[in-house]
Order: sequence, then C-alpha cells, then structure tokens
Amino acid sequence: MHAWAIVLAAGSGTRLAAAGLSTAKQFIQHRGAPLYWRSARTFAAVARVRGLVFVFPQDRLEAERERLTTLDAGRALGVPWRAVAGGALRQDSVAAGLAALPHECDAVLVHDAARPFATAALSNAVLDALAAGAPGVVPGVAVTDTIKQTDNGVVTHTPDRSGLVAVQTPQGFALSALRDAHERARAEGWTVTDDAALLERCGLAVRVVAGEVANAKITTPEDLAMLEDADTAHAPW
Ligand code: CTP
Ligand code: MG
Repeated sequence: MHAWAIVLAAGSGTRLAAAGLSTAKQFIQHRGAPLYWRSARTFAAVARVRGLVFVFPQDRLEAERERLTTLDAGRALGVPWRAVAGGALRQDSVAAGLAALPHECDAVLVHDAARPFATAALSNAVLDALAAGAPGVVPGVAVTDTIKQTDNGVVTHTPDRSGLVAVQTPQGFALSALRDAHERARAEGWTVTDDAALLERCGLAVRVVAGEVANAKITTPEDLAMLEDADTAHAPW
C-alpha cells in the first residue's frame, strides 16, 4: 500500500466567523503553530503514510506554503508534502487534493484540519481496514442522543439508534474508488458532506471502524474551549 493523506484546510469557518472569529479555524495559532500543523504531525508519525497534500484557500496558498516550509525546516515532518488550492465546497477541495497525489499513490486518508485531535492509532485502524480490502473506511462512534428526522419543526421519523454512528475523519479510500466516485459526482451533480457518501452512492461498501470520542470537529465557538484544554495538556507534537 502506498498511502498519502489529504489535510483539508480550505474552508472559511463561517459558523465561527458568525461568532466573531476573524481567522478561519484551521489557521488558529495553537501551541506555536497553525491548527492544521497538528494533523500534519499526526499523519507524519504514521509509517504507512508516505506524504501529505495540504489544501488551502486560494488566497492563502502562497503564505501557507511559506509557513509550512519554515515549520518543516524547524520540526521536520520527515515526509514529502505538497500544497494546493481548494474550492468552494469541501467536495471540491477533496477533488483538488486528489489531483495533486503522486502517480505511485494507491490509497488515501482524507482528513479535516478542523479535527486536530485524531490520533496515529486511528489512522492505523483505518489503514488496516483498507489493507484488508475495504474500498472505503470511516471512523464512527455510537450516537448517544436519540436522533429525530424532522420536517418544518415536526418529527416525521425516529431511526433506531442502535444502528446509528456519527462519523469522523480520517476517512480512508482505495484511491481508484474515490477518484471514480468523484468523477461520477461531477458528471451527475451530486453534492455530499463526506467522501464516504460518494462511495455509497456508487454502490461500494464503506466499512466502519471504531472512532475516537476525543476526535471532535471544531465547529462552533463552544468547541474552541477544547483547544484551550488541550493547550495545557502534555502532547507530543
Ligand atoms: N473545507 C475545505 N474546503 C471547503 C470547505 C471545507 O477544505 N470548501 C475543510 C475545512 O477547512 C475543514 C473541513 O473541510 O477542515 C470540515 O469542514 P467544516 O467543519 O464545515 O469547516 P468550514 O467549512 O471551514 O466551516 P463552516 O462550515 O462553518 O463554514
Ligand atoms: Mg463547512
């Protein structure tokens, strides 16, 4: 297996901007580096990950490339990396990342830079399931709240909670399967919020491995407290 990781950092963080945060969350300074650097360090510590593609907003691309060069010079990642510009939708940013992978790559981890707490162990669990033959793999944690389907504020359906999981990143894919799924999405105009959904639409099996409760996505102002807590804890990056 020749795996690379795509670190998605091209969002604009509109939900946090609405609350007054002026920098997109992936660029928040955390332990002396932008938040996306923490995901980069984690993947660089995974032996089967041979390189990284960072996806940044077009207007930050050059500045972040320079910043990464400086960070890498000081605290070497130890793997090659590339940086490319993303698009308007997360899906577009993933497509841009896929286009930047080297020829020899045959498996990919797709990760939200807004999930800084994912571990190397989780990446390894995803890669193990890929190596065992699954075309797509997602980390999932059991849902503890009862979930309701609603329409205009009225409950229409209560799915059986025992079959529900909340999914996270890194999501792992056989590269050819994900590339084909993105191509089909472009042709058919599908819009989805994660890559696994594209494989599902193509009729391919997506395997769930145990996710990590701590692997939360920084989305709302309340979530920023997680970074402050983590700031005081000992961590190896
Ligand atoms: N992302 C991206 N390109 C986009 C949109 C999102 O690379 N066009 C990335 C974000 O940078 C983030 C991850 O995808 O790391 C998950 O997206 P989300 O949490 O929705 O982040 P934002 O889209 O930035 O935030 P919001 O939805 O609040 O605007
Ligand atoms: Mg978003």
